[in-house]
Amino acid sequence: MTIKNHYDPQLTGLGASPEVQDFYDRYPYPRPVDNLQNYGRLWDDYQRRVADFHLFWPAQTYREDYSILVAGCGTSQAAKYAIRWPSAQITGIDFSATSLCKTEELKRKHNLTNLSLQQLPVERAGELGDSFDQIICTGVLHHLVEPDAGLGALRSVLKPDGAMHLMVYAPYGRAGIYMLQDFCRRLDISASDDAIRDLVTALKSLPPGHPMETLLRTAPDFGDQAELADALLHPQDRAYSVPQLFEFLQRAGLAFGRWTRQAPYSARCGVIAGLPQTPRLEKISLEQQFAAVELFRGTMVRHSAVVYHNESSAQLNQIDFAHGGWLDYVPIRMADTVCVLERLPPGAAAVLINRSHTFRDLFLPVNAIEKRFFDAIDGKRSIAEIVRVAAPSPKETGIADLARDFFEQLWWQDQVLFDTSRLPKAT
Ligand SMILES: C[S@@+](CC[C@H](N)C(=O)[O-])C[C@H]1O[C@@H](n2cnc3c(N)ncnc32)[C@H](O)[C@@H]1O
Repeated sequence: MTIKNHYDPQLTGLGASPEVQDFYDRYPYPRPVDNLQNYGRLWDDYQRRVADFHLFWPAQTYREDYSILVAGCGTSQAAKYAIRWPSAQITGIDFSATSLCKTEELKRKHNLTNLSLQQLPVERAGELGDSFDQIICTGVLHHLVEPDAGLGALRSVLKPDGAMHLMVYAPYGRAGIYMLQDFCRRLDISASDDAIRDLVTALKSLPPGHPMETLLRTAPDFGDQAELADALLHPQDRAYSVPQLFEFLQRAGLAFGRWTRQAPYSARCGVIAGLPQTPRLEKISLEQQFAAVELFRGTMVRHSAVVYHNESSAQLNQIDFAHGGWLDYVPIRMADTVCVLERLPPGAAAVLINRSHTFRDLFLPVNAIEKRFFDAIDGKRSIAEIVRVAAPSPKETGIADLARDFFEQLWWQDQVLFDTSRLPKAT
């Protein structure tokens, strides 16, 4: 690999911004790490890998030998994927030489022979001359001068049955950031070590109630120089509301599959399920529901979604409890879930939580029979088998309805994913 450690005008065709490239060369993101041993240990867990696979491809048989493009890979993300999936082929691209050099160090340190790196703008992904089963592009597209061109280029290298993981900023929770970005712009403050130091001082005097206050409290990252610069002094930054994200996907010929964590958007979960307006929410389309829930929650800072080619999405992502087939789904526990057995609300046998949720209202109390269903999930049994194993009398009237409602709720609550590969394939 050749990584140019200087600004290369050849790399900025098709709208890639020299200003943004220079910014990431000076403030590479995320903060570079020395080694990925702990990360590797986390992903040694087979169950975690299976769950991650079926997040993207519920209907495909689990495999690990696929090709992944990490677009805008920053200092470590491509190396992490190479460690996470040793049998997969990983390609990392970024236009920041500093970031790629940091990744190259990790590659050497961990002997990542399945990782190749290239200094290339996302907008020119087509020049890779290859296509990929999976594309990871998180925290990148909202920094492009022409995000549509970037997303279009990524779509052109996604295999027809491939899946993308996209993460873009969301506007309402970032209102305070955009106010302070504007504050800096008006004072002609751009990214430099002095400017960051002075901002750290100023932020200590931020008046109580400023929209930035919660973010400063809840995002420990802002203690770090690169993170703070990335948030407040970025030369190019936009955000997408839910409707804007759906339009963005549609313009690129892509279809929304699911949120990587869907409970925060759901009318069935948390406080949203008990509002006087919930019956109205339930009557509108899912897309409209997500848009409304984003407005009600008010503090989302990013959207993280699984997306597909628009013509292939239907077969790839069908989870459907309204028609037959769901009894053959195999539930797989999602990573980061916990089953709490203490200080329970009245009538509950346990409370299920996904620790990756940031909204505190997202937890699921379960009763005794539901807990038996939950305990019988082993990543191998189908829902039908779980009902046979766990229900006191499986033929009892109503037990199938109970199971259907419970497993659908577990899915919405980000407690489980489904392996639906045992079902006959749609033709
Ligand atoms: C906020 S960082 C995210 C890094 C990584 N995706 C992650 O989630 O850890 C954004 C990265 O995208 C890269 N980037 C931004 N615009 C780009 C472009 N047009 N082409 C290639 N890389 C770009 C930056 O150099 C930086 O490394």
